[in-house]
Amino acid sequence: MRYIYKDADQLLNSLADFVVVRANEAIQQHGRFSFVLSGGSSPKKLFELLASDRYRKQIDWTKVFFFFGDERYVPADHPDSNFLMAKKALFDSLQISPGQIFRMKTELAPEEAALSYEKDLQGYFMNNLVRFDLVLLGLGDDAHTASLFPHTTVLQEKESLVKALYIDKVKMNRITLTAPCINQAAAIAFLVYGPSKADAVHHVLQGGQNINEYPAQLIRPNGGALHWFLDEAAASRLQS
Ligand code: 6PG
Repeated sequence: MRYIYKDADQLLNSLADFVVVRANEAIQQHGRFSFVLSGGSSPKKLFELLASDRYRKQIDWTKVFFFFGDERYVPADHPDSNFLMAKKALFDSLQISPGQIFRMKTELAPEEAALSYEKDLQGYFMNNLVRFDLVLLGLGDDAHTASLFPHTTVLQEKESLVKALYIDKVKMNRITLTAPCINQAAAIAFLVYGPSKADAVHHVLQGGQNINEYPAQLIRPNGGALHWFLDEAAASRLQS
């Protein structure tokens, strides 16, 4: 599904409503909601909206469990940390208890952090299929998503749920969920706004299949639903 909004504010409000519906459905069906957060700058406003008076009463936050799609290999109190961004914009104001937050432990060596996170996922899903209720993803100007960057080995990963890798483009290690892990989700929502994303959106949705160039093309849920939340600027190169 593709939803195109006049501007980012309309998009964010609609996506917040979408999160509320998915959360309450999951809590009703199986007593808890597993929510994977994206990093970068785009989701910050969404998190602040979900923690706002308008939305905070619409979800039983004690039943929400938070995960990360990827993490920059920096300390958890570093300004580039996706965890820190979510902590400031969402967890602190909703007083989310630490037991509900599955952070990627960047205090460990990269590979150890990836293995540790894979164990966390298997523990949460009690060694059953790791099937998140909702995975939120962003899109880079280069069509990367999570830390699945163009021309990186992780794009060919078929087994592991979590990988650590050095990304030359951003000169740092990253920890990321793999495409096979993301694609097991019940629902995936891309949150993409702004003119700088128009080329990437066009290539991913309407360009020729080339996952090395456009890694977000790897995101095809197995039986789950895929939703693109776009503003007009990001959708400006799409042919109807
Ligand atoms: C990260 C992200 C990454 C992000 C895109 C878009 O850690 O950087 O998870 O995949 O979603 O880079 O980032 P912006 O929202 O900042 O444009």
